[in-house]
Amino acid sequence: MSDEVAQPDVAVTMGTEEVFEPSEEFRAAASFADPAIYEIAEADPEGWWESWAKHLEWSEPWSEVLRWDAPWAKWFVGGKLNVSANCLDRHVAAGNGEKVAYHWVGEDGATRDVTYRELLATTEKLANVLKDLGVEAGDVVGIYLPMIPEAPAAMLACARIGAVHNVVFGGFSAEAVRERMATSNAKLLVTADASLRRGEPMPMKAALEDALTQLPELKNVVVVDRTSALEGASDVDVPMTEGRDVWFHEAMEAAHDFCEPVALDSEHPLFILYTSGSTAKPKGIQHTTGGYLTGVSATHRMVFDIETDLDVFWCAADIGWVTGHSYIVYGALCNGATSVMYEGAPDYPHKGRFWEIIQKYKVTILYTAPTAIRTFIKWGREIPDGYDLSSLRLLGSVGEPINPRAWLWYREVIGGERCPIVDTWWQTETGQIMISPLPGITATKPGSATRPFPGISAAVVTSKGEIVEEGGGFLTLRRPWPGMARTLYGDPDRFVKTYWSRFGKDVYDVGDAARIDEDGYFWILGRTDDVINVSGHRLSTMEIESALVSHPQVAEAAVIGQSDEQTGQAITAFVTVDGSADPDDAMKTELAAHVAEKIGKLARPQRIIWSDDLPKTRSGKIMRRLLRDIAEGRELGDVTTLRDPAVVGLIADRVAAGEED
Ligand code: WT7
Repeated sequence: MSDEVAQPDVAVTMGTEEVFEPSEEFRAAASFADPAIYEIAEADPEGWWESWAKHLEWSEPWSEVLRWDAPWAKWFVGGKLNVSANCLDRHVAAGNGEKVAYHWVGEDGATRDVTYRELLATTEKLANVLKDLGVEAGDVVGIYLPMIPEAPAAMLACARIGAVHNVVFGGFSAEAVRERMATSNAKLLVTADASLRRGEPMPMKAALEDALTQLPELKNVVVVDRTSALEGASDVDVPMTEGRDVWFHEAMEAAHDFCEPVALDSEHPLFILYTSGSTAKPKGIQHTTGGYLTGVSATHRMVFDIETDLDVFWCAADIGWVTGHSYIVYGALCNGATSVMYEGAPDYPHKGRFWEIIQKYKVTILYTAPTAIRTFIKWGREIPDGYDLSSLRLLGSVGEPINPRAWLWYREVIGGERCPIVDTWWQTETGQIMISPLPGITATKPGSATRPFPGISAAVVTSKGEIVEEGGGFLTLRRPWPGMARTLYGDPDRFVKTYWSRFGKDVYDVGDAARIDEDGYFWILGRTDDVINVSGHRLSTMEIESALVSHPQVAEAAVIGQSDEQTGQAITAFVTVDGSADPDDAMKTELAAHVAEKIGKLARPQRIIWSDDLPKTRSGKIMRRLLRDIAEGRELGDVTTLRDPAVVGLIADRVAAGEED
């Protein structure tokens, strides 16, 4: 593995020496401008997190802040609370019911301002719908929805009664939904008739029909009608099975208005979110109640310097990923913030959509991904220059390393050189932001996520686990934090093996390569495992390989993430087809469609290279490093450990000759 660090997947150029201090103006207005906060947290991390937990409303106090039996953590032991009550009821009770929780913007241009009072009302009724359908505390509820206000309401309704939600990103296929529902023993699924894509309804419920017949434990499907108000949407076919499927609006109509929030143990599971790992099987990351809410509300408040009465916060992620869970839903609502929630693509119906939304709602904080920024760069600065972006005061980046050029463009063109940038490093597993500037305190360097959040301990280590003071290696986290994943659903052994074994049972192995510089700043370089990051979407090479080989004509496949200027990494597949097959372009199209069906369109290979054989070690392991070299046209490294060193030459020749196209 150590060679992977020497050759990380993602190249971060540390070309610029520029350092950006927060402006005097920003610092003067910031809620957190005193660097002493780092020392305070460091001197007593548990006391630090406890001080944040005290911002929440608890129905029973905790008796112990942290019980750490590595790698098993319990935060705020004995405490009881309800996440939905913290996100909704207490703001309404404090007189903020009329405040907007979400300025929702539909892809079709429809808008809805959802107040805290309205979101609470929907959540309560929906919680009753779930209860009426037999959902109990601890049951798993699947959520497969477009970016509509019903999505956060469904999550909060689960939280209200102690059901555990399992959200599946709307871009995943029916087969991926089936797998995630089956492995989590989901009892109910909330979905929609269709989602919108460039003005066209794409059936969701109908696409799930086959999958639903293979889920004996799934008792009910609640279907939101997204499209009936649209023109021509009567075309959407929505098969409804009597006794199993119910329309959301009909069930809501029949449900009671009030639903008491259940006081749940601090360690009660809040959600499962599947993410890709080094094997073909996705991991069900499990997060719990009190610690998670403490972690996301503290980081949302500090990293985004949120002033709830002044800010309009836009986290332009999807609720189907952890970014959406933590910063569109839980962190933002817990802090009583006003957010923008956008359903569609950045270029529909025109490429100025983001900037139009920022101008309209006077967005003050924009949090998006480097891949989006690179796309905006490609479209040209004339587009954002045509809008009034002067409301913005802070910019955020998440999901993948941001190259300095994109960082500088973001700062200049979008931020008008006045907005600090917070490059936030974290993962589905960490639940909360872990390494990031604090905008009123930290001097930033383009391309660096800077320093660990107060109370977080991170270090770069060698393959033997020795701490690197300055230089490259493996990123580790060395102390428990409240938002940390507690286990993998149904697979505690894999949790220990994947994250808490390589460097000892009390050191979290991140799976990223990183460098630490002379100022102690972290530069995240990319993954060290078989996980790839395409446009900020985390995918497993093994998962894509297993989808490819499930095609009857594919004998073998190896998938790599090839560096790509636009998407960070692009999926390249080396495929061996059965002797009888005659691969041509039609076959490429067919394989792409096959992967889309198995996983989702986001996992389709961008490039397929036919190869008669694949480079393997004597023990039969595919050498992905060599395939990356071939795909990117690099000099081939050491091939002597290969079972058949001639193989790489043959593939390389083919690629060079352009045969793969
Ligand atoms: C992986 C986690 C964090 C929510 C979205 C992704 C990469 C994430 C950064 C960043 C460099 C980053 C890492 C990490 N990553 N943020 N600011 N700089 N790399 O969550 O799907 O669990 O993916 O995304 O490689 O391990 P995820």
